[in-house]
Amino acid sequence: MTLPRRDFVAAGMAAIPALRGLTPQLTVAPSADRMAWWREARFGMFLHWGLYSILAGKWQDDERWAEWIRHNAKIPIQEYDRLRERWNPTEFDPDAWAAMVQRAGMQYAVLTTKHHDGFCLWPSAQTDFDVASTPSHRDICRDLATALRKRKIRVGWYHSIMDWHHPDYLPRRDWEVATRPVGDAKFSRYIDYLHAQVDELLTGYGPIDILWFDGQWESTWTHELGVALEQRIRARAPQIVINDRINGKGTPPGGRLGDFGTPEQEIPATGTPERDWESCITMNDNWGYKAQDTKWKSPKRLVEILVETASKGGNLLLNVGPKGDGSFPVESAERLEAIGEWMAVHHGAIRGSWASRFAGPVPFRSTTQARRCNLFFSEWPTGPVPLPGLRTAPVAAQLLGAGSGRARVVAGAKGLELHLPPEAPTSLVACVVLHFSGEWQVITPRG
Ligand code: GLC
Repeated sequence: MTLPRRDFVAAGMAAIPALRGLTPQLTVAPSADRMAWWREARFGMFLHWGLYSILAGKWQDDERWAEWIRHNAKIPIQEYDRLRERWNPTEFDPDAWAAMVQRAGMQYAVLTTKHHDGFCLWPSAQTDFDVASTPSHRDICRDLATALRKRKIRVGWYHSIMDWHHPDYLPRRDWEVATRPVGDAKFSRYIDYLHAQVDELLTGYGPIDILWFDGQWESTWTHELGVALEQRIRARAPQIVINDRINGKGTPPGGRLGDFGTPEQEIPATGTPERDWESCITMNDNWGYKAQDTKWKSPKRLVEILVETASKGGNLLLNVGPKGDGSFPVESAERLEAIGEWMAVHHGAIRGSWASRFAGPVPFRSTTQARRCNLFFSEWPTGPVPLPGLRTAPVAAQLLGAGSGRARVVAGAKGLELHLPPEAPTSLVACVVLHFSGEWQVITPRG
């Protein structure tokens, strides 16, 4: 029997006698099992925080950058290193962060333990380019993980494969080759460093729920290196969820790695039904804190984004770029608050839901549950809403929130339709829940 790689991962090595003993250290939980909580959650927070946050997007007179500032503004490494002296985040309150994650209705958070600049938010035995070499000394990973767990929020580590600081990372930035010659740099030594750091992150902070890799696109990171890293992680943390950016160059057909896809700043048009996915999206235009970026999406737009991802069967990882002092930009905090108010009423229609059963043009988005169909309206309809293809009559239609009036489903000339009161119950996205007594069906007419 030859099994495609995914299948034996999904089946668990121990279940396949022919493979037993080959890699005894690899006891992998079936994918569906380790993905269960993640699928249920639907909503998490991305946290982009590092030395770049101190610069707030500005280098000399140039204000165009954010977390890529060292590369984009071509900051010499010695100068960037000196930012360590300014890392003293006196406003960092991990419990306040965790509280904001929780109040927003999110179930997990993913922190940049190390971004492309190479600076580590934990005291790493492998380098002094870390929090231990700053005036603050504070282990950000430890403090945040503790605060999140107290609130039963799952913990995720973002970790960049690309590293603009480590002497053995290759390739060099093209603008830097003269000032930081490649010399006897050896990429294999960087791999050892990467492995040792991932080990630290997996072993020093209790059970980690997600590893979220990035910066995998340069020529040196290969599929084989991704396979080796994934195996190493799964041997240490069989239940962990890993993103797809662990994969590298030269991937053979079907050689997918990780558990979920990572569309960035977009929601795939029809989701990706063959694979779990999570859209990561910013509240303004940047991941890291940038004082000049005022292009904030409205709370309504952010709720629409959450509803759209859920309606297509994906998760949303919504970003916050804390300031250098450890506080959240006030605009982010306000938006989290508004989303949280909305989630307090609507979380039951997002969490534990899956993709819409309606195909074709409908004037709403929807999510699916065993005995519920949740219909979301960005614009409140003025007349009866057709429910094309809905074959099961609901036992009740429930308008979520403090609206006045009732929702009803009635049989119209062309099938079931929804009748709504004149006033929307919220200025964000309104939701009507159709409750069924058992299985329910939508059969989309052909053509
Ligand atoms: C990109 C960027 C990075 C950001 C990430 C989030 O890969 O390089 O700055 O962290 O996307 O998905």
